[in-house]
Amino acid sequence: MKVIQVDDYNDLGKKAAEIIIQYIKGHANAVLGLATGSTPKTTYKELIRDHNENGTSYRHIRTVNLDEYVGLDQNDPNSYHYFMKKEFFDFVDIPENNIHIPNGMAENIYDECKDYDRLIEGLGGVDLQLLGIGRNGHIGFNEPGTSFDTMTHIVDLTMDTRKANARFFNGLDEVPTQAITMGIKNILMSKSILLLASGRQKAEAMAHLLNEKEVTSAFPASALHHHQNVTVIADKEALSLVYSLERRA
Ligand code: GLP
Repeated sequence: MKVIQVDDYNDLGKKAAEIIIQYIKGHANAVLGLATGSTPKTTYKELIRDHNENGTSYRHIRTVNLDEYVGLDQNDPNSYHYFMKKEFFDFVDIPENNIHIPNGMAENIYDECKDYDRLIEGLGGVDLQLLGIGRNGHIGFNEPGTSFDTMTHIVDLTMDTRKANARFFNGLDEVPTQAITMGIKNILMSKSILLLASGRQKAEAMAHLLNEKEVTSAFPASALHHHQNVTVIADKEALSLVYSLERRA
């Protein structure tokens, strides 16, 4: 696991975008695994800026998002579909057919999970997966206790996660109780992974990941220690409880 420390949230976006752009330059039809949440926002902003200034094209890029809330329509401002449109897709030249996000309104959400796995397989798997991390170590919506063998599945969100995400809604009651998420096995099947973390509120999670190195389903992000090509990009605050940079590289 390689760790890159940056100064702050803006620099996090610049560094992550630089790595993604570099990858796209060599792989014009790459499959990108994308994430939502506050953390990747500056990354998307930088990708858009680069698209406008340097013309990096997404015409042949395919994307698969990690997760979506169950029960939220694509046009609901809190859905991850909506987030992705407003934060990224509306501003680059990616064809709509190349964009894939689990459908939280599917008639049969269990079939939707199986279909999503088939879809990812059909695309040839994810080349570069962008990840955030929850305060409890969740990745995607894989909460503590999730088996590392899981493919796309339905999760009951923990109260901690619902509270953390309540800031986007008009109160906790409105935060959905379930989500569809790629599983930990899906994530580990990606060819490369970029994990982003910013701010003091992620410091405990980063300390858990980088100091302890214990691999346990009680801390889902620890599964990443099983992957050969993970780059963590985190700012100083997020790394403030990590003992030594040398030990982490
Ligand atoms: C949500 C998302 C995750 C995200 C995490 C952290 O629960 N499902 O994919 O990584 O929250 O979010 P944030 O970046 O807003 O801290």
